Amino acid sequence: MEYISINGKRKLSGSVQINGAKNAAVAIIPAAIAAGGKCVIENLPHVEDVTTLTHAIEHLGGSCRFPDEHTLEIDSGGINQYTVPYDLAKKMRASYYMLGALLGRFKKAEVPLPGGCSLGVRPINYHLRGFEQLGAKIHTEHGIVKAAADKLTGANIYLEFPSVGATINIMIAAVFAEGVTQIENAAKEPHVVDTANFLNKLGANIKGAGTDNIRITGTDGLNGGDYSIIPDQIEAGTYMIAAAITGGDVTVERIIPKHMDSLTAKLEEMQCETEIRDDSIRIKAEKPLHAVNFKAMVYPGFPTDLQPQAAALLSVSSGSGIITETVHEQRFQYVEELRRLGANINVEGRAAFVNGGAELTGAQVNATDLRAGAALVVAGLAAKGETVIGNVMHLDRGYEHLESKLAALGADVKRISHPDEYDA
Ligand code: EPZ
Repeated sequence: MEYISINGKRKLSGSVQINGAKNAAVAIIPAAIAAGGKCVIENLPHVEDVTTLTHAIEHLGGSCRFPDEHTLEIDSGGINQYTVPYDLAKKMRASYYMLGALLGRFKKAEVPLPGGCSLGVRPINYHLRGFEQLGAKIHTEHGIVKAAADKLTGANIYLEFPSVGATINIMIAAVFAEGVTQIENAAKEPHVVDTANFLNKLGANIKGAGTDNIRITGTDGLNGGDYSIIPDQIEAGTYMIAAAITGGDVTVERIIPKHMDSLTAKLEEMQCETEIRDDSIRIKAEKPLHAVNFKAMVYPGFPTDLQPQAAALLSVSSGSGIITETVHEQRFQYVEELRRLGANINVEGRAAFVNGGAELTGAQVNATDLRAGAALVVAGLAAKGETVIGNVMHLDRGYEHLESKLAALGADVKRISHPDEYDA
C-alpha cells in the first residue's frame, strides 16, 4: 500500500508549473476515437485516468503511443470493437464519453455504467436522453449501457441541469448527426470549450461552446489532427490554496488566469495578495486569513472540485464561513477526515459550517475521493507534525508528480510504501 506523508507547517515558496487539464484530457482522448484518423494530443497530464483511457482504446483495436510524457498519439483507424470492458469503465467516470464517441462514429456502443469519485448518486440519464433525442435506441442490461442507431438526426436538446458530462457527450455524438443539434442550458466549463475546439480542429462545426446554447452542424466524418490541451484549472487552484494555507508566496505558472477568477477573488477577500500576469498568478499570504463563504456552482461560479480544498483553508482562517455545494449531492465525505486533523466543521444537507482558527495537527487519514485527497494534502501542509494520507490512488488519478512539485516549493512530503495498513 502507498501513502503520502507530510510534515506540515512549512511555508511554500517559489513557482510551480501546471499540467494540462485532466477533465479536458479525459474527454478529448475518447473524442479522438470518433476521428478515425491519427490524432496527436499535447500537454496531456500524465495521470492514471489518461493511462486507463489508452488501455480502453487499445482494447477496442486502436493504438496509443506516448512519444514523450505529455504527448499522446492515438490512431483510432483500427477500432473494430464497440464494447468497453467493465474493468476499465469502473475505474473512471469519463468512460461514459466512449458512448458518445462510438455511437457517433459507428452508431453502436456498449459501455458499462461508469465508476469514478463517489459524490452521491451520479446518474447519466441526461446523456442517455440526449442520445435518444438524436435517434439512438438505448437500453441498460446487466449494468451495461447499450446504444444503437441506424442514423443520428440533429435535435433540440434541453438539459435540466448544465451537466458537464452530458454536454460533452451529446456534443461528440451530435457531430455525426444529420442536420443541426442545439444543446440548451449547456455547461460552460473550460473543458467543454476545449473539447469543442478539438473537434472543430478535426473538421466538426460546433458553435457557441462556452455559452449555454451550443449548436452543432453534423458532418460525415472527422479527420485526424494535432491539439494542445488547456491548463488544469483545478490543479492550479489546489496549489493556490496550498500557498495560502501555508502563509506562502507561490507563483502558479502556465495557467489561464481568467479560469481562476472565482478563486482569485475569494483569496483576495481572505486577505491574500495576488499578482495576475498573462499566464501566471502569484499568491502571497503574509497577512492572517479571514474566513469567507464559498458557494460551489457551475462555471463561471466557484468550482465544486475546489470546495474540499477551500474547506481546509477556511478551517485555519479567523472567523467562520459556510460552504454551499450546489452541484453534487454528497461532496462532504472528506469532512470526517479533516476533523481527524482538528478541523471544526459541521455539515447540514448541502452546507458545511466551518469554524475557523483550528490548530491542525498531523494524523492518519484516508482520501475518500480525488479532491477529498487534495483537501487532506492541503490541510496536512498546514498541520503540525506528520499527516499520513492513505488511498493515494485517488490522488494519482488527477495530480501529476504531486509530491515532487510540492517538495520543490519547500514542503516536507514523500510517498511511502508499506505492505499492509500503515501504523503511524
Ligand atoms: C464532471 O463530472 C467532472 N468529471 C467532475 O470532476 C466535476 O465535479 C463535475 O463535472 C462538475 O464540474 C469529469 O469531467 C470526468 P456533471 P460530471 O454531469 O460530468 C447530475 C473531479 O474531481 N447529473 O456536471 O459527472 C450529477 O449527479 C471530478 O475532477 C444527473 O443528474 O458532472 C451532478 O449532481 C469529480 N444526470 C450534477 O448533475 C446526468 O445525466 C453535475 O454533474 C448527469 C449529471
